[in-house]
Amino acid sequence: MASKSPITVTELSAMKSRGDRISCLTVYDYSFAHVLDEAGVEILLVGDSLGMVIQGHATTLPVSMHDVTYHTRCVSRACRTALVIADMPFGSFQGSPQSAFENAACLLGEGGAHMVKIEGGAVMAQTVSFLVERGIPVCGHLGLTPQSVNQFGGFRVQGRQESAAEQLRRDARSLDEAGASLLILEAMPSDLAKDLTESVSAPTIGIGAGSGTDGQVLVLYDLLGIYPKKSPKFSKNFLEGKGSVAEAVRTFVEDVRAGRFPDPEHSF
Ligand code: KIV
Repeated sequence: MASKSPITVTELSAMKSRGDRISCLTVYDYSFAHVLDEAGVEILLVGDSLGMVIQGHATTLPVSMHDVTYHTRCVSRACRTALVIADMPFGSFQGSPQSAFENAACLLGEGGAHMVKIEGGAVMAQTVSFLVERGIPVCGHLGLTPQSVNQFGGFRVQGRQESAAEQLRRDARSLDEAGASLLILEAMPSDLAKDLTESVSAPTIGIGAGSGTDGQVLVLYDLLGIYPKKSPKFSKNFLEGKGSVAEAVRTFVEDVRAGRFPDPEHSF
């Protein structure tokens, strides 16, 4: 059987142009990464959600650069086809574009990631262009950005008020113009996410953002139904009724491609 070509930023952009939906899952170790890569998941995200699902913290804030570098290295060893994104942890990129560059370079050089993810809107645009100009692809993250949980007063849906929606429109345009290769849109009304998707050139990946985005991401442990605490309303247990983890992941990929996931029950 011919081997598939590795997924690149160019291919993700071509998928948006063709209207082919992109699947993405979080993952933190070699064995699960191997299953996801084999199942055809296009993007593996080493999310700082590892602070909650792996380490048992209440938020993602305690996650360190060492943690993300270590887990990214485990994941990238398994990847043949998927593109690997490493999440920049709280405090590793907000200080200055230069410190963001040094930490992002570590995630690519030592961790083996192909892209880094940064939470935040227009305020991060200068940092995004600083990294992009130096050869580091960046994924932005808008909406419910978990590193701002204290600012939001909890894990709450964002962009419900018109003024907040307008700010998200400005944020999306600003990250797109700064050269972000992807945008994650988390926990926002479906209409707003669709609107943002149509207004930017970068592919958008939704989580709790309806079916109008260019792709979908879930936290792997929510998809498998094994996180012992409450999972968000928008997540779905794909392991229920399936014979294996691989089958659950393949079903997620097929449902995303066919536009069956998310349905209105798993959207805002
Ligand atoms: O850290 C993470 O897993 C994430 C996804 C939920 C998008 O940021």
